[in-house]
Amino acid sequence: MNRELWFPTPIWFDHLEISNLNEIEHYCLQKEKTEPTDCYSNVNGWQKEFDLNDVVFLELQSKIDEKIEEIAGEYNIKSSISVKRQLSWMNVNRKGSYNHVHIHPRKFLSAVFYVTAPENCGEIVFEDSRLQRSSHEPSNWFSEMNPLTFHSTGYIPEVGKLVVFPSWVKHYVTQSLSDEPRISLAFDYKVFYESD
Ligand SMILES: [Fe+2]
Repeated sequence: MNRELWFPTPIWFDHLEISNLNEIEHYCLQKEKTEPTDCYSNVNGWQKEFDLNDVVFLELQSKIDEKIEEIAGEYNIKSSISVKRQLSWMNVNRKGSYNHVHIHPRKFLSAVFYVTAPENCGEIVFEDSRLQRSSHEPSNWFSEMNPLTFHSTGYIPEVGKLVVFPSWVKHYVTQSLSDEPRISLAFDYKVFYESD
């Protein structure tokens, strides 16, 4: 039989070569020391909104924005609509921290970039976000999983790795078992119409 895939759930990933990662790491750890956490989806970790226009992030900013532009191109976004970064926040997650399952409401694309990624520091897991599927095709039906049958998939953090996903995809982060902190930067991109 012929088979076509419709309504796929894309997850993009890439490795970014950033020359001042040590400086970014130091910047994040200093912030963690001196500022209280903002609470988004994190349990026991530290999160803080930051300005990606700060000089320490300039190289990273241009490389991430380039990747997002590439993804917007895959969507064939209309020229009257632009995709812009709306929110950036840093995460310092130490042993025992994790993130509840969540989505990023009213955003288009979300991204995470890993500044440090010690072993067993927790992975980001994406869940099939099609509402009816989990009850109609439970995972215990399948002897071997493949992209047609998976209900979730995880990405292990690596230094310099960028992961991008549609903001409506349910995701969570497993608990960190590492004595070293996992430092990541997260971004939300939103669609703006010409009149905005
Ligand atoms: Fe998230």
